[in-house]
Amino acid sequence: MLSPPRRWIREQPLSSVTSCVRRGLCSRRHSLWILLILLVVCIAIQTFVARQARNDKLTGLPHLRFTVSKQHLFPTLQNVWEGLHSESSLAVKPDVKSLQTERMADLHHQNEGYGKPSDYIVSRHVEKIVNRITDSQMEATKVSPGNPLLPKYETKQSHGLQGFLVLPSPRKSLIAGTDTPTSSIFLKTRTNTFHTKATCHPKSHIVFLKTHKTASSTILNILYRYGESRNLTFALPLNKHSQLFYPFFFASHFVEGVSSRSVREFHIMCNHMRFRKSEVAKVMPQDTFYFSILRHPVAMMESIFIYYKSIPAFHKIHSLDEFLDTSRRSYNSSVANNHYAHNIMAFDFGFDNNVAADAENLEEKASMTIAAIERDFHLILISEYFDESMIMLKNALCWSLEDVVSFKLNSRNERTRRMLLPNTAEKIKRWNAIDWRIYLHFNTTFWHKVDSLVGQEQMKWEISQLRELQAKLANTCLKDGRAVDPSQIKDAGLKPFQYGAAVIQGYNLNTHIDRQTKTKCQRFITPELQYTDHLYTKQFPELADKHRQAGRIAAPQHQRSGRAAMMGMAWAREAHHRQIIRHRFSNFKNQKASTSALLTHTETNNKTSMP
Ligand SMILES: *[C@@H]1O[C@H](CO)[C@@H](O)[C@H](O)[C@H]1NC(C)=O
Ligand SMILES: *[C@@H]1O[C@H](CO)[C@@H](O)[C@H](O)[C@H]1NC(C)=O
Ligand SMILES: *[C@@H]1O[C@H](CO)[C@@H](O)[C@H](O)[C@H]1NC(C)=O
Ligand SMILES: *[C@@H]1O[C@H](CO)[C@@H](O)[C@H](O)[C@H]1NC(C)=O
Repeated sequence: MLSPPRRWIREQPLSSVTSCVRRGLCSRRHSLWILLILLVVCIAIQTFVARQARNDKLTGLPHLRFTVSKQHLFPTLQNVWEGLHSESSLAVKPDVKSLQTERMADLHHQNEGYGKPSDYIVSRHVEKIVNRITDSQMEATKVSPGNPLLPKYETKQSHGLQGFLVLPSPRKSLIAGTDTPTSSIFLKTRTNTFHTKATCHPKSHIVFLKTHKTASSTILNILYRYGESRNLTFALPLNKHSQLFYPFFFASHFVEGVSSRSVREFHIMCNHMRFRKSEVAKVMPQDTFYFSILRHPVAMMESIFIYYKSIPAFHKIHSLDEFLDTSRRSYNSSVANNHYAHNIMAFDFGFDNNVAADAENLEEKASMTIAAIERDFHLILISEYFDESMIMLKNALCWSLEDVVSFKLNSRNERTRRMLLPNTAEKIKRWNAIDWRIYLHFNTTFWHKVDSLVGQEQMKWEISQLRELQAKLANTCLKDGRAVDPSQIKDAGLKPFQYGAAVIQGYNLNTHIDRQTKTKCQRFITPELQYTDHLYTKQFPELADKHRQAGRIAAPQHQRSGRAAMMGMAWAREAHHRQIIRHRFSNFKNQKASTSALLTHTETNNKTSMP
């Protein structure tokens, strides 16, 4: 029932209009006025209807809307708010308010030395708003009553959107224009992969965050080969070091040629570092593609325990179970090199790794870490799905299958693998709680991307092609077509660096191949340290000469061990290793130590670093 006042409102205008018309018809002047007013009302109604129709169209196309707001989102913060206000009729104002409170909360928790906090907070909240807007638009479109509202991740449509939100870093999609994964490659691959080559440009500005014990040496080899064959410039560690001064936070002057300004353009950065985006961005061009790889934390911990057995945390411990059972009491995070034993992935990405599983802010820290990785990296690969990862990488970089084919490098002999009890696995997940959450998240997004950007069928087909290519290559290049223990490797230059209690396998080349093929094959199996040295020498011949002369003076010292001289440079490095681990990074805890002091400090250790 309508209440009396409402009825009055509804009926009142009608009766007044009719009486007015009746009165107006009596005089001609009045009727002219009435016609004029009717005309104005007509025009007003038409305009209103047209505007309404346009609005409906916009909400009906979430994809289009998303692209538009995304473009407005990132040039400056100013544009962000303007863009949102002008384009969204959705609840932006409440968002702004909740933003302010969340921002305060964030400032309290922003204690990691990771990028500029303000940048981080701004882009994170911008992403939140984009998420909210797109989410509510999705809700709005899903109104058919026979169609129950599905959870966010389970709708086909949100797969796509989620992928797009994650893949491109905001800045990149603006600058790189047409050849970003979002705008061309992946859209094209989704509909027709065979057009990929014609429509995208192979990327040659790349940062690979090399993580530990994740098959990252194999990816390093892929990048080295790609860059070397195209004369690309690598951002190599200063003074012929093998790593970018890991485990210190990366700084731009760790790269050879940056301080001396002798290199104009860097293409690929891929050596071990503790990631810090703001510093990496000083070295690499703006359209750089960032990617990395993760491994299941349980397998990872098993591997690390064998490989890094000599770190203080493991030194006197007999089994992984013993470590996990006593770690809460005996693990000292302040001791140098112990970071390998605790949330190593979070550490490598530049985050706090010393977070207890029962810490109150665990979930918060985990989601902050995940959000920042999503913001800074275009693609996160998964070691357990290496072939799938290579196909994803190939598509993202617009490379060919030939470019991502590889032989497994730096892999362990099966004999040193240990079976883990289910109970041990649970303990590892708990001990490495942050890493476990990071892994679960990126495993999920990885498979969403496989579904939405390549498709299962296409993936299967491309993997079969990749394996076929690899088998052919192994047949051509490798003696016996497989990896062997280091003791069986004939060419000292192809022996992989040995470390810890693991036996790292390598390869022998086929003997009856022509020189050109041999050179090509050799690149596939050249271990990391040797290849890094080779590229350094190629890029900085004069500096390399200087280092070689310095090395010759130091040589007698190496030869004392006999084995070192025989087994080449990589082995020589290992000869110093144990001694160095003990002395090294005594100021490790003090991350803010002046970097020049850091350089002289590591310098005295003769370029050796933990692999
Ligand atoms: C790379 O550089 C070498 C020597 O300068 C040259 O011979 C070769 O053609 C270059 N390769 C490419 C792909 O540019
Ligand atoms: C942990 O190691 C640091 C540095 O070596 C030392 O100063 C500190 O006393 C150790 N803490 C414990 C609880 O053993
Ligand atoms: C990773 O994702 C795949 C595919 O969804 C799934 O089968 C697998 O169980 C996931 N791994 C973990 C550790 O959750
Ligand atoms: C490092 O190398 C220099 C020569 O380059 C040598 O004199 C010095 O003893 C070496 N230091 C260590 C710790 O091996």
